Amino acid sequence: MTETAPKNTKTPVGLAILGSGTVGSEVVRLLDEYRFDLENRIEGSYEIKGVAVRDMSKPRPGVPAELLTDDAISLINRDDVDVVVEVIGGIDYPRELVLKALQAGKSVVTANKAMIAAHSAELHDAAKAAGVDLYYEAAVAAAIPVVGMLRRSLAGDRVSSITGIVNGTTNYILDAMDSTGADYDEMLQKAMELGYAEADPTADVEGHDAASKAAILSSLAFHSRVSADSVYCEGISKITADDFEAARAIDCTIRLLATCERIKDEDGQESISTRVYPALIPNRHPLASVRESFNAVFVEAEFAGSLMFYGRGAGGAPTASAVLGDIVGAARNRVHGGRAPGESSYANLPTKEFGEVLTRYHVDLNIEDRIGVLADVADTFAEYGISLRTVRQVDSDPGARLVVITHRAKEADLQAVMAGLKSKDYVHAVNNVLRFEGMDI
Ligand code: NAP
Ligand code: HSE
Repeated sequence: MTETAPKNTKTPVGLAILGSGTVGSEVVRLLDEYRFDLENRIEGSYEIKGVAVRDMSKPRPGVPAELLTDDAISLINRDDVDVVVEVIGGIDYPRELVLKALQAGKSVVTANKAMIAAHSAELHDAAKAAGVDLYYEAAVAAAIPVVGMLRRSLAGDRVSSITGIVNGTTNYILDAMDSTGADYDEMLQKAMELGYAEADPTADVEGHDAASKAAILSSLAFHSRVSADSVYCEGISKITADDFEAARAIDCTIRLLATCERIKDEDGQESISTRVYPALIPNRHPLASVRESFNAVFVEAEFAGSLMFYGRGAGGAPTASAVLGDIVGAARNRVHGGRAPGESSYANLPTKEFGEVLTRYHVDLNIEDRIGVLADVADTFAEYGISLRTVRQVDSDPGARLVVITHRAKEADLQAVMAGLKSKDYVHAVNNVLRFEGMDI
């Protein structure tokens, strides 16, 4: 493996900033405003060689006009560029740019979880071959230093699980729906205006953004390659005010959770489950009190025990904080030589089929209120070996609303039960099926 040679400290580290939107504009501003501190931490100077954008005609307060370019590739290829900062977003185009940069021997800092989750192996391999750095702290939970924590601080431990709120947009929407009864569409619009949401907010509300972050967390935590398409993913777009009412009735709330779990079978075989869905969590659980666009990440590690990280998971300045930390790291390695930890995938654990994963369920049905229905519902669960914890029936018009809470059961068995129930003439509607995460209720 090659290693970055120390640079002549009289020459500034050349930075190419790709993108000047919510994140990129803050990165440029802070690089200018905090130059004294940042250069002292790097123990060397830096210079922004250019800022690549798509639309040259947009006003860009704080970005010197002579730095702007719409030719990102030429900027990357400049001899005096050492570190490329990718804050454009998307997958295919940034992948092309980042690969070009790495292959040309430039270190890369990116905030792009979608690209890292989709092309992690290829990008890490390219960085290793060139002996340069690939940093992506901002890709997961923005300002919260979870990537560095897993890459470095817990490198000597064995992580058992990570449970987190890792998408600010959906937490902002769910929190407002729960606490003020706010409308889903209105809160999504606000999250977009505040710069939390992705350019296409479908990635946020359908859980894909959280799934990319979960894939990155699982890869780092379990030293295995976990891609975003192996993450089971459901979004929040079907969550209604009625679901929150049902959650409140059992002293719970609903949050979009990313769960990364090391599972050990009875024969000792280990595998990974990585999943994202809106889950019920008890109000006394610390994740239930994560408000607005904040993120929080719980880590269970065998030697360290429980760790919790909390902070801003979206927004220009919080994300720029993580990007700047990575720029300092990459620039320092340029000045002094050396590389940050690369990919570690030696454990190569397989992904467990989602159908085999055990959780507890909250099944909310509208049924016909007649003799024998409750017994038949219980029999249908029993047929697939699912034990019921509580059953609650309230009058509804027409019929009754039936809420069943199960003990831990396999996802595939629950799906078989739901298929069975949907075929019953007494089931008028399946209002929702939610899973529980966190401590026992
Ligand atoms: P954004 O506001 O949409 O900004 C994107 C920037 O990229 C814009 O300046 C845009 O140029 C530029 N761009 C787009 N296509 C380009 C092209 N073909 N060539 C050159 N420049 C191009 O996005 P953002 O919110 O800053 O997010 C950037 C990245 O950070 C994404 O990967 C996102 O997932 C990640 N991230 C964002 C946050 C957050 O809270 N926003 C948090 C963590 C991570 P124009 O200005 O000319 O349109
Ligand atoms: N759209 C993302 C969110 C930005 O809402 O969390 C941070 O990755």
